[in-house]
Amino acid sequence: MFFNQKKADAPSLEEIQSIVRDASLNHIAFIMDGNGRWANRKGLPREAGHGVGVKTFKKTVTRCRDFGISTVTTYAFSTENWKRPKVEVREIMRLLDEYIKEARDDNEKNRIRYIFLGDKERLGPELLEKCEFLEELTKDNPLTLNVALNYGGRDEIVRCVNRLIAEGRTEITEEDISNGLYTKESPDPDLIVRTGGEFRLSNFLLWQSQYSELYFTDCLWPDFDEEELVRAIMEFSQRKRRFGGV
Ligand code: IPE
Ligand code: IPE
Ligand code: MG
Repeated sequence: MFFNQKKADAPSLEEIQSIVRDASLNHIAFIMDGNGRWANRKGLPREAGHGVGVKTFKKTVTRCRDFGISTVTTYAFSTENWKRPKVEVREIMRLLDEYIKEARDDNEKNRIRYIFLGDKERLGPELLEKCEFLEELTKDNPLTLNVALNYGGRDEIVRCVNRLIAEGRTEITEEDISNGLYTKESPDPDLIVRTGGEFRLSNFLLWQSQYSELYFTDCLWPDFDEEELVRAIMEFSQRKRRFGGV
């Protein structure tokens, strides 16, 4: 909404890029929450919120790329979200299908590498194939966008451990787990932003969030704009990350 409007005292693009660089913000993750409430407050069905949420998602990814952040992860659908009404789940899957098509068409322009985190099998053979095609098509692109879809942090860890057991391993290291997760190509997130006013991770990146900075905002995801994003980045840049040291 405000992506093209800048307040007079807002930092310039160059300033934000240098803040991102100085703070070593390489990986930002978003728990995109609040679509349903946003729609309901406007007297619309929950699904309408997801439609606007996709637009916010696209703008946010572009902004992160402009700011110089090399890895973005977004939580689009959890292993628990299947509990929702059928119409809502169907609409989310339809939006996803539409988004994948656009991502394919815009590949030359966007140069984004797509990686889907989660168990894609449950999405059905058609969507599964489209996801895999997009991953393959974009695999050499510079900016990584992880889209967590039918993703659960516990499910991810259990799958990884079961795979290691199947390989005959009797002892494992932390590295074995990190390298066996859906996110194996990405560094751990430096910053996790959750919109929608809840203070929880909801099964998101449980292993990878070990030393992530957490940022919560009441802003509902469809309203999350450049100003909100910059606010989160500014706060991150003020945090003292000690990683257990002094
Ligand atoms: C987040 O928004 C999007 C998904 C979980 C798919 P919600 O749909 O959870 O919105 P609220 O939290 O009900 O407002
Ligand atoms: C988290 O939001 C999942 C996504 C954003 C995809 P939820 O709305 O599912 O989380 P809870 O139920 O409030 O914890
Ligand atoms: Mg929610």
